[in-house]
Amino acid sequence: MTPPLLSRLGIERPIVQGPFGGAYSTVRLAAAVSNAGGLGSFGAHRLTHSEILDTAAAIRHVTTRPFALNLWVSNRDEGGAHPSREAVLRMHEALRPYYAELGIDPPPPETKAVHDFEDQARAVIEARPAVFSFIFGIPSREIIAECKRSGIVLAGGATTVDEARALEQAGADVVVASGFEAGGHRPSFLAAAEDSLMGTMSLVPQAASAVRIPVIAAGGISDARGAAAALLLGAQAAQIGTAFLACEESGAPTLHRDLLFDRAAGRTVLSRVYTGRLARAIRNRLPDELRGARLLAYPAQLWVMSALHEAALKRSRADLMSLWSGQSSGLLRWRNVESLMAALP
Ligand SMILES: Cc1cc2nc3c(=O)[nH]c(=O)nc-3n(C[C@H](O)[C@H](O)[C@H](O)COP(=O)(O)O)c2cc1C
Repeated sequence: MTPPLLSRLGIERPIVQGPFGGAYSTVRLAAAVSNAGGLGSFGAHRLTHSEILDTAAAIRHVTTRPFALNLWVSNRDEGGAHPSREAVLRMHEALRPYYAELGIDPPPPETKAVHDFEDQARAVIEARPAVFSFIFGIPSREIIAECKRSGIVLAGGATTVDEARALEQAGADVVVASGFEAGGHRPSFLAAAEDSLMGTMSLVPQAASAVRIPVIAAGGISDARGAAAALLLGAQAAQIGTAFLACEESGAPTLHRDLLFDRAAGRTVLSRVYTGRLARAIRNRLPDELRGARLLAYPAQLWVMSALHEAALKRSRADLMSLWSGQSSGLLRWRNVESLMAALP
């Protein structure tokens, strides 16, 4: 039987391409997945109002199918948008050996603009994608009501059963239940991410029993077996991240994509070291060697680490970069969307 969610979303296959923040999402990737009958997504949390509108227009230029735009409801932790100069300099001091290894000077302590979620959400509503997916919280009643008026399906990310219930109560149309196998950030919002570590196998059936709205399963799904298992567990679709990140259409650098296929590099770790928020990446030197360091809050930690990441990327130094990956990268075999989608239900 075709899950009711598919007709609601206007898609033919129970496959959602997980949105990627930063420069990892591309118009090409989202459109390729939508054109293949799944739901392509674009992670827009680092985009301005006008960039969000431009992105939606660019996607519509290459597909007439439904797609999702994704935002982060909470995009700063306490002290993370305005870190003290001392705290930033202390982090630079902890990173000094790496700057020396890469032959760069510590970057000047700087704060960057943090986007206003409400303003970004208004851009999404104006852009009218089929789906507005969001993580790290629940949008205001006004935003939810406006989406409903505009016929935009609201899909909220949950890492626990309590979060799934909270999303349903607030008016979300779909829950994306994300197990800790997933690559990228743990988007917990009711309790600390470290206290919200449920695996997909446990989370999905419990979330599906706890709420009446449809559930999409995310985390650790990288092939047809995982997608079929997600449906058996009570989900109506599978959201796949890492396997799409590994496709040539994604915005991941070639070095990163190649490492996703490298079985030796396939061990992952959940760490706050890369951004200040708990996230899963290929294990390298940074989480272990910076274990005792006093990290900054999100996004200040990300700002400090970005300079190191860029320098390491230029020198192909995988040991000093953030290399996002879920736990199921060991299953990857597909280098583009066409072959991956052909292997999925
Ligand atoms: C590089 C990267 C960036 C991500 N950025 C976002 C994001 O901005 N918003 C979001 O809802 N999920 C984000 N995710 C989570 C994915 O959309 C997806 O749910 C997850 O990767 C699924 O688990 P898997 O990697 O095991 O397939 C990101 C994942 C990765 C790997």
